[in-house]
Amino acid sequence: MISSRELAYTILLNAIKHRSYINLQLKGLSHPDMAFVNALVYGVMQNYRQCRHFYGPFITKKVSIEVDVILLLSAYQNHFMRDIPQYAIKSEAMKLCEKYASYGKGFVNAMIEKIFSAQRIQAKDEFDTEGISLETSFEPWIIKMWQAHYGHHFAYDYAKFSNTPSPIFGFLHYQNKNDLSRYGTKLNDYTFLSDKSLINHDDFKAKQVFIADIHAQVVGFNTPIQPHERVLDACGAPGGKSMMMAMKIKDDAEIICADISSHRLELVKQSVSKARLKSIQTYELDARMAHTQFELSSFDGILVDAPCSGLGVLRRKPEIKMFITPEDIDKLVNIQAEILDSCAKVLKVGGWMVYSTCTLNKKENENQINAFLKTHPGFICEHMMPFDSFKTGGDGFFMATLRKIQ
Ligand SMILES: C[S@@+](CC[C@H](N)C(=O)[O-])C[C@H]1O[C@@H](n2cnc3c(N)ncnc32)[C@H](O)[C@@H]1O
Repeated sequence: MISSRELAYTILLNAIKHRSYINLQLKGLSHPDMAFVNALVYGVMQNYRQCRHFYGPFITKKVSIEVDVILLLSAYQNHFMRDIPQYAIKSEAMKLCEKYASYGKGFVNAMIEKIFSAQRIQAKDEFDTEGISLETSFEPWIIKMWQAHYGHHFAYDYAKFSNTPSPIFGFLHYQNKNDLSRYGTKLNDYTFLSDKSLINHDDFKAKQVFIADIHAQVVGFNTPIQPHERVLDACGAPGGKSMMMAMKIKDDAEIICADISSHRLELVKQSVSKARLKSIQTYELDARMAHTQFELSSFDGILVDAPCSGLGVLRRKPEIKMFITPEDIDKLVNIQAEILDSCAKVLKVGGWMVYSTCTLNKKENENQINAFLKTHPGFICEHMMPFDSFKTGGDGFFMATLRKIQ
């Protein structure tokens, strides 16, 4: 059987080479030491910049991704995991080298010595941007952006928060009459917090219980959807918020769960069928073109849970911080604006439009809504919801509820 370190190595290599999400790679995998594999994969991704700093300054020529991943794994085990003897770290690295990068054995051996003699990095204070970037493994531009948008104190705290494990939150199917406390601690009318994974629970498999971040639930359950309404979930896959809206109105509405990705819409279809819901239909759509696909002014409500940079969900998708660039954010801002503009046209006068993201930066959030309101005088903003991740443990979300008044 493949060793836990080798499994972690292959997942990390794939993630870095092909930019594939680690949570999707880990989904459904089984291994006797899965907890260790998970810890290694998430740990390396969350701390890659600091891990690389332990040996990076000694590298004088380009190293292969294979060698880099072996060194990152060694650095993470040595500096972030307890009770792993250095001889074990080294011998496991050598085994990986033998199999995947035999040309680099001498180099890896020398770099591991550098890793062993290095010190963990700690920022001096909240103004030490480079120190924070290394300590929390964020590219400096993200820390600088957060400092500029939310202040130095928040930026440092949020960067640290992004490297902690996510709690498990869930909600129930409206026909599931069990008390929330059967699944965990009841937090509000619809959300519970579980202290264990629910993915093998029969009720989860039967879609009588759903897992979703508490702030994603605040968005889904706080859309102003009413029974019998015709609602477009414009960027809806894999269907989490369509489900929440369906639960809120007890499956008594017409929710068109649209998405540009047919593959992701398949996931919605599976969930809807397992949950036996009749209110949700799927529709393949580029939401920038909603006005060419649907009759104008034909929806009572629209949810735009926009494609975004995902800086609020780094605890579960730490690889985002490795790959995202400022240019990506600028492109996303344009796409979001086009989606909002097109969706505005298919909303009835009097109708609601909720805009949400799972990211933290004003360009995609407050500024996006303010720009929309300037160019769409027929809309008002009823409220923008502040989300306090430190208080709830939830992801970094943003939500604005708009109303078309003319
Ligand atoms: C934040 S996710 C949506 C999550 C979903 N609302 C939920 O709660 O499960 C954003 C979605 O937007 C989709 N997307 C990206 N560009 C799009 C576009 N131009 N039109 C429609 N959907 C798009 C992505 O495929 C992705 O599924």
